[in-house]
Amino acid sequence: MDLIVGDIIQGTVSDFGSDGEGVIKLDGFPIFVPYAIEGEEVRARITFVKKACAFGEVVEILAPSPDRIKPLCPYFGRCGGCDLQHISSHLQREIKRDTVRVALKKFANLEADVPLPVRLNDWEYRNKISLPFAYNGRSKRVSLGFYEKRSHKVVPLKWCPLHGDWASKLIEVVTTWANANEVSVYDESTHKGLLRHIVARMLDTLSVTVVINGSRLPRAAELIESLKAKFDGVTVYISENTRPNNVIMGDDVKLIYGSEKKQNLGAFKAVVSPKSFLQVNSKVRDAIYDMAANALSDFDGDIIELYSGVGLLTAQLALRLPKSKITAVEIEESSHNNAVALMQSLGLHDRVKNICDDAAHFLCSLSKENTRSKECSIDKSKLDDSITSSPYYLGGMFDDEFPKRALILDPPRRGCDESVLRAAAFERIVYISCNPQSLARDLKILSDSYDVVSVTPFDMFPQTANVETLVLLSKKNQ
Ligand SMILES: C[S@@+](CC[C@H](N)C(=O)[O-])C[C@H]1O[C@@H](n2cnc3c(N)ncnc32)[C@H](O)[C@@H]1O
Repeated sequence: MDLIVGDIIQGTVSDFGSDGEGVIKLDGFPIFVPYAIEGEEVRARITFVKKACAFGEVVEILAPSPDRIKPLCPYFGRCGGCDLQHISSHLQREIKRDTVRVALKKFANLEADVPLPVRLNDWEYRNKISLPFAYNGRSKRVSLGFYEKRSHKVVPLKWCPLHGDWASKLIEVVTTWANANEVSVYDESTHKGLLRHIVARMLDTLSVTVVINGSRLPRAAELIESLKAKFDGVTVYISENTRPNNVIMGDDVKLIYGSEKKQNLGAFKAVVSPKSFLQVNSKVRDAIYDMAANALSDFDGDIIELYSGVGLLTAQLALRLPKSKITAVEIEESSHNNAVALMQSLGLHDRVKNICDDAAHFLCSLSKENTRSKECSIDKSKLDDSITSSPYYLGGMFDDEFPKRALILDPPRRGCDESVLRAAAFERIVYISCNPQSLARDLKILSDSYDVVSVTPFDMFPQTANVETLVLLSKKNQ
């Protein structure tokens, strides 16, 4: 198709792309137009042309969709945080269901029955915020904000409807402090300047981490005083990150004020350190864990949980399945430590073994079969003692006489390592995923040995195009 940047096209939006953008097809050539809705007739300006597709921006909506609504947030369209605020809640759910359905078909050739996602809240659902610092325009006023979509340009914010009031108060306190004390802001191009990010989590109390390009935070006492005045029980950390990359946190965090406190997390109280993973939408998290536990409620074997985080699901499973032993594997040390403390506080440590390891390494190391294969050649003599001395050491887990086991997978966005997926010795698998594409790619491998029993999407991230999915699999009858 002969299109150049600046061309104005007109067409009907025939579909949604994977980020919730509208797709217009001209002679079969797809043009992705953010903020256009399926069924709408729009005029759009071409902004970027590639061989197989182009991108555009809406110039005029000639026939609006009945599902078009007024976005709540004044920053919507500029800020890269949300994709779907202009779309009714019902259609958002349909889009997400289709995203899952299309990914399963396209990447795994699976025709699954996918219901509408479970949606439990629309706004103020996020318990965590990560905000880069920036200078506001040419002024030397320090601001905090979110990045524009696919860019590192910061849109300064005072408020975000995905977070409660606490986030606005936090932005106000931190920017006032930085401006009053003239603390410098990190510049990605020169790698100079101090303040990089604020990362905060609001549970019963607020934890704030200031990520800095250095080891010392000047005027820290003033910042702590201002935070204390607004947030009872606040805990403050700094994290040194002097690397010129996009990773937000440094390797470590250092507590500079307050103490780590147990927080109410659904059924339990637990400590969650700043670097530990915790699902951002607490209500939806609890619904997912509930479904995962229900899926195994009649299972009487043992459970291996990979990518187990701070152990909330582990604890729920251990309490609901009193006969099962659980081995929970997590790579991030602070999450592992949080999980160990949680199991101890709940008296579950005799049935739950927490192991700090890479999931693939752990599983491979326990499989006689895999240790012989080239794919995962692990020298057992070098294995971590915590694994080989574990009462759950599974040296023979792939042998026929070994007891029945279930596997829980909740990997990061990139999905599971292939060697994890090749382990075909589980009766059931519960796979929780935040990325339909990597989920589908992984299901393609798993479906050699397992049947997909059910697929349930959850709207963990309303107003954005992201969707969480729980898939239940059972071992194929040979
Ligand atoms: C999506 S989170 C899920 C955590 C937990 N299941 C929950 O719901 O809170 C993924 C977790 O996998 C951990 N992780 C990432 N790569 C890993 C690996 N190679 N081996 C083991 N754990 C890993 C991360 O640190 C994170 O805690």
